[in-house]
Amino acid sequence: MAKDSKSILVTGAVGQIGSELTMALRERYGADNVVATGRKTEPGPELRESGPFYFIDVTERASLDVVVKKHDIDTVYHMAAILSAVGEKKPLLCWDVNMNGTINVLRAAMDFDMNTVIIPSSIAAFGPETPKENTPQETVLRPTTMYGVTKVAGELLCDYYVGRFGLDIRGLRYPGIISSETLPGGGTTDYAVEIYYKAVEEGSYECFVREDTRLPMMYMPDCIKSTIDLAEADFENLKHHSDFNVGSMSFTAKELEDSIRKHIPDFTCTYKPDYRQEIADSWPSSIDDSAAREEWGWEPVWDLNAMTEDMLKKLRRRHEEGRLYG
Ligand code: SER
Repeated sequence: MAKDSKSILVTGAVGQIGSELTMALRERYGADNVVATGRKTEPGPELRESGPFYFIDVTERASLDVVVKKHDIDTVYHMAAILSAVGEKKPLLCWDVNMNGTINVLRAAMDFDMNTVIIPSSIAAFGPETPKENTPQETVLRPTTMYGVTKVAGELLCDYYVGRFGLDIRGLRYPGIISSETLPGGGTTDYAVEIYYKAVEEGSYECFVREDTRLPMMYMPDCIKSTIDLAEADFENLKHHSDFNVGSMSFTAKELEDSIRKHIPDFTCTYKPDYRQEIADSWPSSIDDSAAREEWGWEPVWDLNAMTEDMLKKLRRRHEEGRLYG
């Protein structure tokens, strides 16, 4: 698939994952071959100046088609989505963007005879009845958030398109993603990013989940690697398609706090759970990703301590340069 790909479209390219994924894809496949798109937020100068960029709305098929036609797109990384916390505040918007956006991308892929579509899922596909530890690939999918509902429905829809129409669609159930370039927007796992920014900026953080909250997490370099590794895997080797569990690390909020304190001894963290606690409590603590390991060779690189060291180094530099938040 994407190895011989000519023209790639990234939706949600101004978002947390999309912004770094776009740059990685431009590096790999050539800047002009990777078209970045976003809905409203202005892209940063690096994204805007390094290759093509358009504003589109994935819920409007026509706006997607204009860019697909113009650039003869054959691969889409569909990263545009409303995440879990905003999804609970605005469930209809979450349904609209996540479901209608996804089906528009799938229909465009069919109509324009594309090679491959990458559509991420999430640990939010699981729910309170799912086994929490080492959550299996095949298990109970009964989420209690609108975001989770759209992720399960999205997985099923994608697998339906693979089986019914022979489209090559791939997807991973991302854990919480931690990164230093673009802040996440509206997710439950955002505390695991914000804590680093606040540690560097203020030396303290008020965390919106309890200290014993343990969730699966992943550092951005592993997120990019998992996404591109899956995209480039031989289709024939894949038994699963749109729902791969991917694990990397799992830690409690307290363990995260402690890892930061090794580098910033005076760092303090207080805990004041809000509505996002219930969402976090409905998700797994750790993930069994043996299907991803077997079918496309998934292997994470980063652990908590290495990530903390790297995050703090990068954010301190940005802070010194007066551009902590970009
Ligand atoms: N990071 C996402 C969220 O918290 C999970 O996929 O909503």
